[in-house]
Amino acid sequence: MRAVDIIAKTRDKIPLTDAELKFFVDGYTRGDIPDYQAAAWCMAVVLNGLTDTEATALTLHMAHSGDTLDLHQIAPFVVDKHSTGGVGDKTTLVVAPLVAATGLPVGKMSGRGLGFSGGTIDKLESFDGFRVSLTTAEFLQMLKEHKIVVSGQSADLAPADGKFYALRDVTATVESLPLIAASIMSKKIASGADAIVLDVKVGKGAFMHTVADAEALAETMVAIGEGVGRRVAAIISDMNQPLGYAVGNALEVKEAIDTLHGGGPADFRDHCLTVAGKMVELGGKAETLDAAKAMLAQLLDDGTAWAKFKEWIIAQGGSEAQLDDPSLLPSAPIIETVAAPRGGYIAGIDAAEVGKTGVAMGGGREKKGDPIDYGVGIVLHAKVGDAVAAGEPLLTLHAHSAESFEMAKTRLLAAVSWSDEPVAAPPHTIKIIG
Ligand code: URA
Repeated sequence: MRAVDIIAKTRDKIPLTDAELKFFVDGYTRGDIPDYQAAAWCMAVVLNGLTDTEATALTLHMAHSGDTLDLHQIAPFVVDKHSTGGVGDKTTLVVAPLVAATGLPVGKMSGRGLGFSGGTIDKLESFDGFRVSLTTAEFLQMLKEHKIVVSGQSADLAPADGKFYALRDVTATVESLPLIAASIMSKKIASGADAIVLDVKVGKGAFMHTVADAEALAETMVAIGEGVGRRVAAIISDMNQPLGYAVGNALEVKEAIDTLHGGGPADFRDHCLTVAGKMVELGGKAETLDAAKAMLAQLLDDGTAWAKFKEWIIAQGGSEAQLDDPSLLPSAPIIETVAAPRGGYIAGIDAAEVGKTGVAMGGGREKKGDPIDYGVGIVLHAKVGDAVAAGEPLLTLHAHSAESFEMAKTRLLAAVSWSDEPVAAPPHTIKIIG
């Protein structure tokens, strides 16, 4: 078998056999197939797609590229969640400790930034000392002792996804239903949770731009998960504008901390309660989603979720000083507010453009392995539907240089659209499947 023939088959829309997919995944994971051939194949998949049979086989070979955990020796039932990627999406930082605070163990493998979308692992690395690279033994120990663990891809767990993910990030090959489904579900299957809630985003700042595409992605992932005996649900939510107000690694950590203290932006808090509520419902700790959300709101407001967050960050090596005083988290030398150039109602905030500007400011990667700047980013002062007077604060930019500030200001002012007439705030949750 030769990689070049496999690339040509996908280019010519000829379905691959199970053995060919295994050859390609194993060969790339071992380093026998180089990046340029893997990138060419990913681009062929972006352009031509894969059949459902191919997508399932790809997922399973990626899941079995390393260890697959059986967590039942640790806990009878473990839950997990995963987002398909969005802008300002710091949901895991709140949801993981919130669910663990109910006593339901949360074991999760997360990713780094991907294209214009941020990644939980980069956000967590805003804490000095936080360890994202855990061995299988450390993953299990964290889950046993603290009922919560979030790790990055490792040499042990779904290493194939680790390689494909970093490659897709910088080769414009993220936006593909089968590649996203295989990437997410391979990690979820390898890390062993019994129930998985998929946070599927749709809109300008998501990889799926229409509700129909988001539904198709959700249904593919639910089918793959159920096919291997997992309980799976998907929540489809709006990502035309960023989630919450903050976009940027340490800025998002601070917003998550506010939310864990019972505050935070209303849309973000409600989204966290919905995702966590579905996890708790699948985990059998509440009869209905509404009952789960009410119980979880209490845990956010009474400090229980915050205490679990602290325990988790410290147990994975993160700085206690930064937890106690978030102003010690990485910050930018230039922090300046941009005023609204006119008055009116906010009609749109192009989330993709906000995400791409954040990457250009240094908060994400342009090339594989690029270092990132944890302190830079954007804080919005208004969301779609809000009335803003001319000259009122519209955004605050955290930049590493005056040049970067000016670039971001120009791009972001163009990313905001206005209306003279009132605009209704868009609904956030669009559909729940499963
Ligand atoms: N999240 C992932 O883990 N993989 C993708 O491809 C997209 C979002």
